[in-house]
Formats: sequence, structure tokens, C-alpha cells
Amino acid sequence: MLYPTELRAHVGTPRRSLILPRYTARAVGDTETGTRPDARYVLIGATGQLGFDLARTFELPGTLLTPPRSELDILDARRMGETLRALRPTHVLNTAAWNAVDAAEDEPRRAFALNAEAVGTLAEACQALGTTLVHFSTDYVFDGAKGAPYTEDDAPNPLGAYGVSKLAGERLARERCGSALVIRVSGLFGVARSAGKDGTNFVETMLRLAREGRPLRVVADQVLGPSYTLDVARAVWRVIASGHTGLCHVTSGGETSWHDFAHEIFRLEGLTPSLTAVSSDEYGARAKRPPYSVLAHRRLGALGIAEPRAWGVALAAYLAERRALNAPARPGSGRRTSG
Ligand SMILES: NC(=O)c1ccc[n+]([C@@H]2O[C@H](COP(=O)([O-])OP(=O)(O)OC[C@H]3O[C@@H](n4cnc5c(N)ncnc54)[C@H](OP(=O)(O)O)[C@@H]3O)[C@@H](O)[C@H]2O)c1
Repeated sequence: MLYPTELRAHVGTPRRSLILPRYTARAVGDTETGTRPDARYVLIGATGQLGFDLARTFELPGTLLTPPRSELDILDARRMGETLRALRPTHVLNTAAWNAVDAAEDEPRRAFALNAEAVGTLAEACQALGTTLVHFSTDYVFDGAKGAPYTEDDAPNPLGAYGVSKLAGERLARERCGSALVIRVSGLFGVARSAGKDGTNFVETMLRLAREGRPLRVVADQVLGPSYTLDVARAVWRVIASGHTGLCHVTSGGETSWHDFAHEIFRLEGLTPSLTAVSSDEYGARAKRPPYSVLAHRRLGALGIAEPRAWGVALAAYLAERRALNAPARPGSGRRTSG
């Protein structure tokens, strides 16, 4: 795994300075079921928040390929097909998404193009190549009416354009690629920060606003499972190694509201900004969001894969990691090791 001194070279301002090796070959050794030494994993979106952590936690037998968007743009069907044929993947992991939830209400066509139509085309290409498609989706496919953690068997009913487009993507992935694995995640925070959310994430936004001394209003009536992409990524590789297809929920453990999430960020960082709990109606976001979108880990349990650690512990680890990244480098402190 990459450790802070190497990461500092990849992560920072602007976020797009993050550069991964395009073709990363790792040692082989067939230690897990469902994996082969000659497996070839093409990761789409390795510069993104989840993609970056998938790349740095890759430890399965085989080869990880991380083509940049300039070489593999899923909105360009012809080139995408050519590139995939040339790369000969056994698995394609697609983290590319339009995940600007409010903007999707104003530009649903663009959200659908990336979150649904392109996924359908990608799934067809994977099916033609005999490749497993691993696609990522969201807790926002649910309406929140259940009020208890959603299992993979619960019926989705998205409330906004983003959720509708992601649900369409899930369905196209599974209809058009027989071996598709769709992994739902939620409330991501990771050191690469989200490309689709202006290079930030909720934790970074809260810390920035607090540093600017702004009074903060955060919704208290939406409960979710905030998730550290480093932990999600490790669990995702285990799910892939299991050979499971269909749906699987992978999030950090536990649940909280956005307001209490913010409160914990500030507590852990020793900050005391003015923080007010507001309702979703008072906040008035463009898109309607589920009041409760916690994902249960039933499938992970059935596969014998431990659920990622609780979100609060994961948040503390994330804050420590970003502090290490921001700390001045000590000569000779860099190392590469397995993690
Ligand atoms: N962020 C969240 O809180 C959250 C919550 C629930 C579910 N999810 C889902 O989790 C997945 C990962 O989210 P994330 O936050 O890690 O995403 P992200 O940070 O926005 O990263 C998206 C990645 O996809 C790439 N990309 C965008 N358009 C592309 C295209 N047309 N062709 C190829 N690559 C393209 C981006 O490349 P560039 O660097 O070139 O832009 C970036 O590397 C998504 O499916 C998202 O819907 C996210």
C-alpha cells in the first residue's frame, strides 16, 4: 500500500495532481478463492476518491491497470470498446459517475448519460469480452421510508434524478453483463476527495467552512452510513475475490445524521465552530434525499467478509491520514510496504 510520503506526491491541491502509475503489476500468489494469477483488473476512475483507494489497496494475484480518462472515457463508446479489447481485462471496475446530487436535478440528461447509458454500453462490452463488470452505486436508490438498514433484497425507490440515474445504471449493468457485481456505497470520504463533488467531500467541506469561521447549518433529519474509502476498498477487493455476482452493500459500520457526523469531525479536530442542526426543509437543497439510507451488510456477512470498522473509528483514521499528508516530510521517512 502507498504510505503518506508517497501519497503526498499524489494528493493535494489541485486534486487533479493525483497521478497513479498507469499500469501497476503486483506479485502473484493465488491465496483467495475466485482469483487467478493471470487476472487483469481495469480500474476506471483511479483518480477519484474511491478509485484511488481501490488502486492503493490492490493486493490480489494478477495485474491492475489504471487507464486515465484520456484513454478510457466511458462516454466514448467506440474508444472504450477498443481500449478494453486491447487491455484484455478479466474484471472492469467502474467508479466513474455523475455524483453531484443537486446538479443532477438541473442536468438529468448528463447524469443519465454517465450513470446509466454509459454503464449499459460498458456492460455490453464486458459481456462480449467475457469480463466481470464491477460497478458502484449508492444508498440514494432508496427512499428512506423503511427507517431501518436496507438489505440487498429491499426494493429501491429513488427520490431524485441522481438516484434514478444510478438505479438505471445498476439495472443496465446486471441486465447486459451476466457476471456483473454491483456494490452500493454511501457518504464517501477519502484522501483523494471526490472528483465529481468539486474535488472535496463532506469532511473537507466542514473543515474548510469551520476554518473560515462561518456559522454552519447541517441537516439532522437524514441518517446515513458515512464511509472511509480506504476501508470500503479493502472490503470491495474481498468481495471480488469471493467471485460473488449481483448486489452487495459495502459501507463503514454504524449510522449517524449529517449533523452528528459534522459534530464528530469537529470534536476529533478540536474545533468549536457555530453548528446548528436544521431540517431538510429548512436547509432547502435542490434534490430530495432519503431521511434514512443506512445500508445493511447482509451479503458481506453471508460471504464471510467482516464489515468495515465503525464510521467514527474510520473518521479518526481518515483525519490522522490527512494530517500525516499535510505534515512536512521528514527526510528518509518514505517507505513502501504492504498494508
Ligand atoms: N462520493 C460519495 O459520497 C458517494 C456516495 C454514494 C455512492 N457513490 C458512488 O461511488 C462511486 C465512486 O464515487 P467517488 O466519489 O469516488 O467518485 P469521484 O471521486 O467523482 O471519481 C470519479 C472518477 O471517475 C472518473 N470519470 C468521470 N467521468 C468519466 C468518464 N466519462 N470516463 C472515465 N472516467 C471518468 C473521474 O476522472 P477525472 O479525475 O478525470 O474526473 C474520477 O477518477 C460512484 O459510482 C458514485 O456514484 C459515491
